[in-house]
Amino acid sequence: MNNLVEKYRQEVQSILAKYPLEQKRAAVMPLLYLAQREMGYVTPQSMADIADVLELSTTDVASIIGFYTLYYDEPSGKYHLQVCTDLPCALRGAEQFLEKFCENLGIRVGETTADEVVSVEQVTCLAACNRAPVFQLQSGDGITYYENQTVASALDLVERLKKREAGKDGR
Ligand code: FES
Repeated sequence: MNNLVEKYRQEVQSILAKYPLEQKRAAVMPLLYLAQREMGYVTPQSMADIADVLELSTTDVASIIGFYTLYYDEPSGKYHLQVCTDLPCALRGAEQFLEKFCENLGIRVGETTADEVVSVEQVTCLAACNRAPVFQLQSGDGITYYENQTVASALDLVERLKKREAGKDGR
């Protein structure tokens, strides 16, 4: 049984309908996004389901997850806050920003806050090099970009996200 198809039959069909049958493997990206939406990461079962639908190997699917910073293969924060530290951004203080930001959150780069709300990651160019420090915030709702950030503004955002999540849980 294919759990992904069983659960999201209509969405899977509408994704597949966008690609010619002989190129259906191109649907791997939206299917991964769909699979990730619920748990915040792509489970081994979802990888197998996607491979089955697209007639790929699970290794092919796993390699795509490994290549793109948009996909995760293990549990992490509800929000992924991804800071660019490439050279142009580093010249504008991105590394110090990231270090101080993580220090204030009590985590290291690549880790998740204790309440599992935010994971902080280091990424390469986000195409806003002259407006660093810059990060993208990724969640099931999509991606939002934040430019010209300070540690204080980023911490303020994290507080708002934590409050939003606490409100959802009734915490
Ligand atoms: S180098 Fe950081 S956004 Fe381009």
